[in-house]
Amino acid sequence: MQDTAEKPAVYSRKNPFSAKLKTALHLTGSCAEKDTWHFELDLGGSGMTFEPGDSLAIFPLNCPDLVEDVLQALGFSGDEPVTDPAGNSVPLRETLLRSNNITQPDKKFLNTIVGKAGADAADLEALLVPEKKKELADYLWGREIIDFLLAYPRAKFEPQEFVGILKKLNVRLYSIASSLKAKPEEVHLTVATVRYESFGRQRKGVCSSFLAERIDEETPLPCFISPGKGFRLPAPEEDTPIIMVGPGTGIAPFRAFVQERKATGAKGRAWLFFGEIHEDTCFFYRDEWEACLEEGILEKLTTAFSRDQDHKIYVHHRMKENASEIWQWLEEGGIFYVCGDAARMAVDVDKALHEIIAEQGGKSAEQAAEYVEQMKKDKRYRRDVY
Ligand SMILES: Cc1cc2nc3c(=O)[nH]c(=O)nc-3n(C[C@H](O)[C@H](O)[C@H](O)COP(=O)(O)OP(=O)(O)OC[C@H]3O[C@@H](n4cnc5c(N)ncnc54)[C@H](O)[C@@H]3O)c2cc1C
Ligand SMILES: NC(=O)c1ccc[n+]([C@@H]2O[C@H](COP(=O)([O-])OP(=O)(O)OC[C@H]3O[C@@H](n4cnc5c(N)ncnc54)[C@H](OP(=O)(O)O)[C@@H]3O)[C@@H](O)[C@H]2O)c1
Repeated sequence: MQDTAEKPAVYSRKNPFSAKLKTALHLTGSCAEKDTWHFELDLGGSGMTFEPGDSLAIFPLNCPDLVEDVLQALGFSGDEPVTDPAGNSVPLRETLLRSNNITQPDKKFLNTIVGKAGADAADLEALLVPEKKKELADYLWGREIIDFLLAYPRAKFEPQEFVGILKKLNVRLYSIASSLKAKPEEVHLTVATVRYESFGRQRKGVCSSFLAERIDEETPLPCFISPGKGFRLPAPEEDTPIIMVGPGTGIAPFRAFVQERKATGAKGRAWLFFGEIHEDTCFFYRDEWEACLEEGILEKLTTAFSRDQDHKIYVHHRMKENASEIWQWLEEGGIFYVCGDAARMAVDVDKALHEIIAEQGGKSAEQAAEYVEQMKKDKRYRRDVY
């Protein structure tokens, strides 16, 4: 018999699905220090599937104000015809908005500036040698392409030449914050808007500001699933305990985990550590966690609000306070998950985990490191950090 069932479309970087915004909720309402959003995107009709632990890759658009600043610095109107990275003839403004990286300078861009600006860019040229890698990274921190165009006006370009030295605008990944079993044909995200001031300019992260400031229900959001390598729940019938550490936007995959476990009636015990700056304005999804505690989907919820007292309290401090119970859960075969900031949080959480194992297990530092290595081999220490 012939199989007439249509195959579901496979969406990918080359063939993204165009999702639409359904709901945007400001998670950090009246908090002046943070701007974090909950987005619900409609996947209706796509047949797109994903597992808790996967991420969504989104193609953003650049900020139109920055595009105008770049055009002005270059002396272009924006209407000049150019070939974009896909080989289409489009106005320069269009490719700068949609297709090219116009924020983060790379070596090719910097070398071109040096080549064109000559002696004016001698200081910059001195940093473009392999031995100055660290100095160059420090110099570039907080500087964007616009800064170099303004600092070196002798660097003149033809429109196509300028597009030719820019990289493609890349996707950004977001940990998926919902389960298809609980929210069919939807994908939820928890996104912190990147904004900062440097060298006299207000800066915005490309994708997080696109989502927070420049989309509505009509905006096409090209996207595809990026599988979460190994960041997976145990099977629902297993009674493996899970410990989830997800401060800030690191909470996202654990919302998907908890929704999935509720939908599948998962057996094992679950413990969530969450941290943010203030309890009253930044306790993301508080009602949902409290309902989960009542229903027994979560056995424990431990929070750390870093700026609600005169000294910082972080999730790893709370881990240390709960050391004997964490050790008990680990000895019962528990899986330890961490998601969120890689540079600071995940380092301190890793250190705390080693210390807990050493203290509670009566082990030396080397033995604790071996225990953690074994956890990794057994896929019982899983990280999704960025
Ligand atoms: C697997 C994975 C999952 C992720 N999940 C999430 C998630 O659930 N939620 C979430 O919000 N993010 C998540 N991220 C991060 C996300 O992909 C983006 O990196 C983030 O949103 C910033 O992207 P952007 O386009 O807004 O900023 P970009 O335009 O990429 O700008 C960010 C860059 O700006 C610079 N910068 C930032 N702050 C400063 C500063 N103070 N001073 C100077 N320079 C600075 C740095 O160079 C930084 O790399 C995840 C990343 C990965 C890899
Ligand atoms: N590398 C960096 O310097 C840096 C800085 C900020 C944000 N980020 C990135 O910005 C993005 C969004 O961040 P986010 O909004 O999700 O939250 P976040 O900035 O990670 O903050 C969430 C919570 O974690 C706390 N925290 C800070 N340092 C910590 C540590 N060493 N251990 C444990 N907790 C710690 C924060 O406290 P306090 O803020 O009160 O210290 C806050 O209460 C992420 O991609 C993150 O990686 C990076």
